[in-house]
Amino acid sequence: MAIRKIVKYGDPILRQKLKPVDFEQIAPELPALLQDMEETCQAVHGVGLAANQIGLDMRLALILLPESDQKDAPLKRIVLINPEFVEKNGEVIEEEGCLSLPGLWVEVPRATDVTIRFTNEHGERVKVRARGLLAKAFQHEMDHLDGHLFIDHADPALKPAIKKELKKLRNTWN
Ligand code: CO
Repeated sequence: MAIRKIVKYGDPILRQKLKPVDFEQIAPELPALLQDMEETCQAVHGVGLAANQIGLDMRLALILLPESDQKDAPLKRIVLINPEFVEKNGEVIEEEGCLSLPGLWVEVPRATDVTIRFTNEHGERVKVRARGLLAKAFQHEMDHLDGHLFIDHADPALKPAIKKELKKLRNTWN
């Protein structure tokens, strides 16, 4: 098992629409890959990680969130394979960040209530409705699979400041 290197903003794979996953084909390697993704995400205290963030062209993402509101609650892993939206409702504007743009936090609008369909890590196609942080995580990670980043949703008036901040931050990444 290994912690993978996280791809940073500026790498073209973050702007790629990723390829659908053939579950049967990747099934043999999936457990080890998910273990690596989980370790990588946890090492930097992330909420989620998409495949292209470790350089892989596949519609796969993982979300790690506490099972409950209790302090020190264990993390629950949700694996999204070939996810798609069924429904999106409501809107909230909140600060968001991303492991591929470390240090940058920007307010972006997101739906408050989403229903998605995806293949889970056991190969079952399931439908899940989510609100709050999980709904936000679904939208953020599914954006990655289409080559979108959270900053794309920022108010256009904020874009010059974001660009400036990114230029500064990029010097601190390697
Ligand atoms: Co991200």
